[in-house]
Amino acid sequence: MRIVFHDLTVEPEPWLAELRRAFPQATVQSWQPGAPAADYALVWAPPQQLLDEQPQLKALFNIAAGVDALLKLKLPAAVPVFRLDDAGMAVQMAEYVCQAVIRFYRELDAVEADSRRGLWQQRAPRLRQDFAVGVMGLGVLGQRVLGALHAFGYPLRGWSRSARTLPGVQTFWGAAQWPDFLRGSRILVNLLPLTPETDKILDRRALMSLPVGGYLINVARGRHLVDEDLLAVLDSGHLAGALLDVFQQEPLPADHPFWHHPRITVTPHTSARTLRRESLAQIIGKIVALEAGALPQSLGGWVRTEVGY
Ligand code: GLV
Repeated sequence: MRIVFHDLTVEPEPWLAELRRAFPQATVQSWQPGAPAADYALVWAPPQQLLDEQPQLKALFNIAAGVDALLKLKLPAAVPVFRLDDAGMAVQMAEYVCQAVIRFYRELDAVEADSRRGLWQQRAPRLRQDFAVGVMGLGVLGQRVLGALHAFGYPLRGWSRSARTLPGVQTFWGAAQWPDFLRGSRILVNLLPLTPETDKILDRRALMSLPVGGYLINVARGRHLVDEDLLAVLDSGHLAGALLDVFQQEPLPADHPFWHHPRITVTPHTSARTLRRESLAQIIGKIVALEAGALPQSLGGWVRTEVGY
């Protein structure tokens, strides 16, 4: 068996070593142009050349939850693609979003700023009922986030492309219910996949539909958001703040206005990190199952034609 690995954002050696431990008979290497035909590829944001040169793969593993970097490319017609399914990311996302929601609701930024100035200043408690949290995207991550938020008693809302019911969550779906969803979401959390339909979905119109004093938490992709529109809506006073973890260009350029905006907090794509051990355990489990004859679809794999590419 031959396995190739390509992720320029990580040190490859520990990944290769763990794959070699799992498959001692296999040849496991970092991908190079012209590499021999492999059975499996583990990739993050690969070049088109890798896909063009490896049309015989038995499976392509995306080392991330979001597959937008792959969907930009021409995928080989018959190669099943797998993305990470939670793999330790959902609990991190729940932690990150809960702390953000609590921070906004309890005005902890302002409290900390007071404390740095030596100011003892209590703030009037706000009404939890006024702080409905609306989560866009009800997949593995969205559901885990809503489950965690439930413990704090915020009114919960969710929006997805197709109808879903979730206990304790008021759900909305499709374009027709999008405006109603936004109108009642004091804190909006974006966890959507990036697709041609969701590109720039967070534009001025959407942001202005949120209640006055609303907040945005973007933990999905930078391209969901129209940057200038967010700046305008914050500067108009309509929105009270934003926490952004993802950006159109990463790292966020040093001169980007988001860095120094008083109502924006920037974090470096850190809400849910890919965890090597958990990710590899999932991928290795799938390779073992595929080698034993399991059908890719039964393991969550899909091929290009199924997503309309
Ligand atoms: C991170 O952004 C991921 O898609 O896993």
